[in-house]
Amino acid sequence: MDPSNLCNELYHIARTHPGQSFLHHFSDRRVWIVQNPSDTHQILKANAANWPKHMAWMRQTLGPSRMSENQDAWLFRRQLTQNHFNHYDASKTVRASRQAFSEELPHFIAQTAASPLSDHLLRNMTLRIFLDVFLDTNLHETGIDPEHLFHLLELSAQYAFVPSGGLTSDERRHHVSQLNAAKARVMQDLGVFRRPEYASKPVIQDMLAAETSTRGGPDPFVLEQELITLLAAGSETSASTFGWMCHLLAQHPDLQKTLRNCDYTSHLLDDFLSETMRLFPANPILSRHAVSNDVFSTGKVQPGDVALVSLVGLQMQGVSRDNPWQLDLTASRKLHNRAESGLGTAFGIGERVCGGRLFAITEMRTLLHELLQTTVVQRTANEPLHLSLDMQWCSLMVRRGGHRVRFQSQAFPT
Ligand code: HEM
Repeated sequence: MDPSNLCNELYHIARTHPGQSFLHHFSDRRVWIVQNPSDTHQILKANAANWPKHMAWMRQTLGPSRMSENQDAWLFRRQLTQNHFNHYDASKTVRASRQAFSEELPHFIAQTAASPLSDHLLRNMTLRIFLDVFLDTNLHETGIDPEHLFHLLELSAQYAFVPSGGLTSDERRHHVSQLNAAKARVMQDLGVFRRPEYASKPVIQDMLAAETSTRGGPDPFVLEQELITLLAAGSETSASTFGWMCHLLAQHPDLQKTLRNCDYTSHLLDDFLSETMRLFPANPILSRHAVSNDVFSTGKVQPGDVALVSLVGLQMQGVSRDNPWQLDLTASRKLHNRAESGLGTAFGIGERVCGGRLFAITEMRTLLHELLQTTVVQRTANEPLHLSLDMQWCSLMVRRGGHRVRFQSQAFPT
């Protein structure tokens, strides 16, 4: 299987075998696609010590980081950044999100007049917000190009199922050289944070101190490597989620009208966000591997087995809902923050849960509210939820070719 088709496969399996886990073989490796809730609980909570993260491909292609490491190497990196994420400034997040949205809106309108909504513009917006809130930094002044980061993730995700087997050695050599060039470009972009005007920002200061204290040791910390995955986690996922919200609003014009009349604090906005993240989880796979034997609902696990917990499968199993393939805000409210609700599971489960969850919810709610107050989102193709869309997996889930929507600016009576 071409790794970029992984999400299409996840949707296919969720439709054909709802709630079931089963064993696949990718490139001679035993890989479980896990959709069953009790198997998921076993991996991520009850027996989590037996199931460390399986992100060797990410470590090899991007270098070790908080996303890829386990045990002490993870704890060390986590304590460097989590305090900053926990104490994010909510008012500043609202301000930064409003400003970034209003400045990007003319570009959204111009672009969607002629073509699908590109992830490029969305990434620009969410990276701006992330840098503004956590680093008090203006994206445009840094010279960082969000496309460089995305391209690197896209290339590195090809290695998620080692080895991808289909490439001939010439193709592989070419791919590796592209990957190295892409990484060098991103490392150079992010090297800007070593300049004195950025090095004094609290998060960067902590990371530079970590770099000094681990230099020459067995697990040297590298500022740029950590930033690659943090910026990706903190902006690519939000960009993808915002894109899926636009898709759903365009496909549900009546709901769009209802949401437009909600004020910023209305729970309907959160219910809609939750449904978006349930139907289209930006980070659809939690990847782990077994240290020793275990037992799943459908068979025995051997040491070294990989488990890909499919959030698509988990959120579409249909145990707590009549029709999991429908957008249902009432069910979302009832299941708020629990199983089969996007806010309950799409940020991950267990001790490796998303470090930026609260920030992301504030950011998403603000962007949604701004969008509804200024814009009508129209569909350019009829795409009901029971039909499959073509997704691309590139370490997160995006719509191949962009979202088929058009933005129209509109002044609504207040
Ligand atoms: C809608 C947006 C987001 C979604 C859907 C999302 C989803 C996730 C998921 C599913 C995981 C767990 C991966 C696993 O267990 O293998 C995760 C981890 C993480 N996320 Fe998010 N995320 C979002 C936004 C953010 C933001 C804005 C930040 C930073 C401000 C962030 C920072 C992190 C970090 C640091 C981790 C790693 C946690 C750890 O293992 O220590 N995420 N995210």
